[in-house]
Amino acid sequence: MKKVQLTETVLRDANQSLMATRLPYSDYEGILSDMDKAGYYSIECWGGATFDSCLRYLGEDPWERLRNLRKHLPNTRLQMLLRGQNLLGYKHYHDDVVEKFVELSIKNGIDVIRIFDALNDFRNIETALNATKKYATEKTIASGCISYTQSPVHTVDKYIEMCKELKTMGFDTICLKDMAGTMSPYEAEHLIKGIKDAIGDMTLVLHTHCTTGMAYMTITKAIESGIDVIDCATSCFSGGTSQPSTETMYYALSQYGIDSGLNEDIINKVNDYFKPIKQKYIDNGQLNPKSLATDAQALVYKVPGGMLSNMIANLTDMHAMDKFDAALAEIPKVRADMGYPPLVTPLSQMVGNQAVTNVLVGERYKNISKEIKNYIKGEYGNPPAPIAKELVDKVLGDSEAVDCRIEDQKRTGEEFAEAKKVLGDLCRSEEDVMSYICYPDQTLKFLKERKAKEENEAVYTIEAM
Ligand code: CO
Repeated sequence: MKKVQLTETVLRDANQSLMATRLPYSDYEGILSDMDKAGYYSIECWGGATFDSCLRYLGEDPWERLRNLRKHLPNTRLQMLLRGQNLLGYKHYHDDVVEKFVELSIKNGIDVIRIFDALNDFRNIETALNATKKYATEKTIASGCISYTQSPVHTVDKYIEMCKELKTMGFDTICLKDMAGTMSPYEAEHLIKGIKDAIGDMTLVLHTHCTTGMAYMTITKAIESGIDVIDCATSCFSGGTSQPSTETMYYALSQYGIDSGLNEDIINKVNDYFKPIKQKYIDNGQLNPKSLATDAQALVYKVPGGMLSNMIANLTDMHAMDKFDAALAEIPKVRADMGYPPLVTPLSQMVGNQAVTNVLVGERYKNISKEIKNYIKGEYGNPPAPIAKELVDKVLGDSEAVDCRIEDQKRTGEEFAEAKKVLGDLCRSEEDVMSYICYPDQTLKFLKERKAKEENEAVYTIEAM
């Protein structure tokens, strides 16, 4: 019997795409033991923006969240999204830090590490891959991930070459990550057939978003073309900028006689559990109904869901939502100037912020962000196509961009020790140090609050005795 398995994304990507990753662990702990019996290929539950959100907004220790997930989901593969050499932050970290992060992720409970680089510069995912292999248990899966985008330089042949390279590098599975939901059924058919021919029986995963309304058609074509795993979200957290619905895909697959391995009663129960949670966040405004709609404009602008909801949030904060359409229209221009980078974190934020700045300032590139300057200097890796001369001249002047992995220019071995020293007695574990390295300000605040809370509790305990 033909088999297509499903990854459930409600805890990570659906949460991130629809409500800026504000779902606290306490909201879903009660359904985890059921989810553990659903029969998913994996549950995507960590990494991406969850780490930042835990520390910045939710007052949660992301590592503790992971250990809790592990405890309540003993039989399901736990999956995370890792931005290669960027880890979960926005800059390139040293090799020893990347290795340590991967080691701790596996130690605290992660099974599937989906690793990507925004520019598909695979030099930037090699260290994370090697670390995954080094610390792998028998359950660990290193998934090499391609950021999918369309541009004059992104051809089917180019994607097939990338997949061959990921296989040669030693990845266990390959994922096509269509973060903007712009992959059409036609493209899925040609890509997936071509890739499956090239990589043989290696597991191929499709990750897409409903943003433009194409996802169900694209996934259907992907299934016909030989895809092995698809990413879906429980139906009340599906659609819009999120993934297609788990129960819907289950139903469609069953009629084809394709085995998804899912338990129908349980996946329905999961959805029933999340319905009132969704309503709560619609009522309090954290889930903007705008992100639940279909927006075919993304076929023109190639903007992923998370980026769209971030832009809406930022412009709302600045009372400049009237500039939304102009900022959206500016994105493809900035992207072309930058050599057609795929719009995925951190590049989606960089391109998005630059587009907003261009529109708000009223002049293109009058202000250029530090990140974009570093990108132009070559610090993020090789862009898919040459960067516009105007930008290069403005930023580099007479100097030249580097053509090597930025990490190769740096020292190693001190980032971790220095961070540990800064934290002093606030630090309890290597995980604390890692949080600090990724998000120094938020982690410092979090660790201080944790210490104060513990001291209060200690006083209270003594008084109560
Ligand atoms: Co996504």
